Amino acid sequence: MIQFDKRAIRTLGIDTPIIQAPMAGGTTTPELVAAVSNAGGLGSIGAGYLSAEAIEETVAATRALTDKPFALNLFVPSEPAVDQDRIEQSNVRLDSFRQALAIDRPDPPVRFAPDFEAQFDAALAARVSVFSFTFGALTPEQVSRLKGVGSTVIGTATTVAEARALEAIDVDMIVAQGSEAGGHRGTFLHDWQDALIGTMALVPQVVDAVSIPVIASGGIMEGRGVAAAFMLGACAVQMGSAFLVCQESGANRTHQQALLEADAAHTQVTPVFSGKAARGIRNRFIDEMSMLGDRIPDYPIQNAWTKDVRAAAGAKGRAEFMSLWAGQAATLARRTTAAQLIADIRSHLDSF
Ligand SMILES: Cc1cc2nc3c(=O)[nH]c(=O)nc-3n(C[C@H](O)[C@H](O)[C@H](O)COP(=O)(O)O)c2cc1C
Repeated sequence: MIQFDKRAIRTLGIDTPIIQAPMAGGTTTPELVAAVSNAGGLGSIGAGYLSAEAIEETVAATRALTDKPFALNLFVPSEPAVDQDRIEQSNVRLDSFRQALAIDRPDPPVRFAPDFEAQFDAALAARVSVFSFTFGALTPEQVSRLKGVGSTVIGTATTVAEARALEAIDVDMIVAQGSEAGGHRGTFLHDWQDALIGTMALVPQVVDAVSIPVIASGGIMEGRGVAAAFMLGACAVQMGSAFLVCQESGANRTHQQALLEADAAHTQVTPVFSGKAARGIRNRFIDEMSMLGDRIPDYPIQNAWTKDVRAAAGAKGRAEFMSLWAGQAATLARRTTAAQLIADIRSHLDSF
């Protein structure tokens, strides 16, 4: 097998250095997470949009399917600016999508995102083997509380400066998320446009800048990408799009289908769906909402206001109004099982 830095697999208690990315929004079912962990990788529950009660239930459901380690992932919150003019301008455009979907504009959201303190307490109480986070940095005290309950702590960086900031709060490992990555950017120290560094460029620079293990993420779909990540000094990979189309995935069928079709070659980083930059397949929603330029409401306000459109589009199979998160290598995705995907990567690595 190809040589790579073994620190992460030893600490994480796994035998294959493949982390199934946390993917908030229903993709990371207990079945997917457990299948990955049972196959020797590390499954991750994307819990960013879950209430404290739902976190407790999802962890219990996952534990019923595996006794192997898995991760729980949360979004570190930031304070959004509430700008009513922007919210109204965005809603005027959303109304035309609502009309096409035969739904009415909903009442204003009661809250924009789940209560982070309650989510965090639920994560502590769950005593998960691994806790990962994105969109910001925890406080050193939060990191030490997680370690106190036995969790290995992993933060997400999109630049060298962010990686250094995470090392300074004493995380155990860092996910270096390149700009190829599907879904939301983890960027928290810069404007997102200033932090679009590709995985090939980001990983070795982060490896040189910090002394803790680095996990490569973004555009890695199969054995070739994993081998390349090891050559760059990564100790493991975190893959999202490849697992999104696996049989155990809970991702919406229309979303999965979009990744398996040719349009998946056209992805774009955009804040229009949620107020935070994220990479997805280009569609009508992106094209029309982008006309608002930099006047998109902040995350998570925009995320809450677009929810009805995204949900109705998902239920009706209307891909043109959905957030079709996908990485730049999504056309390499194949419909298979999580265990088979991991076995295929292992046999590729064994061939070196
Ligand atoms: C549908 C989707 C949802 C995601 N949600 C999360 C999340 O909840 N937390 C997180 O840390 N990363 C999230 N990500 C980013 C992944 O952790 C990872 O960086 C990305 O999938 C890597 O790029 P790839 O899709 O090319 O493998 C998400 C990615 C996708 C595709």
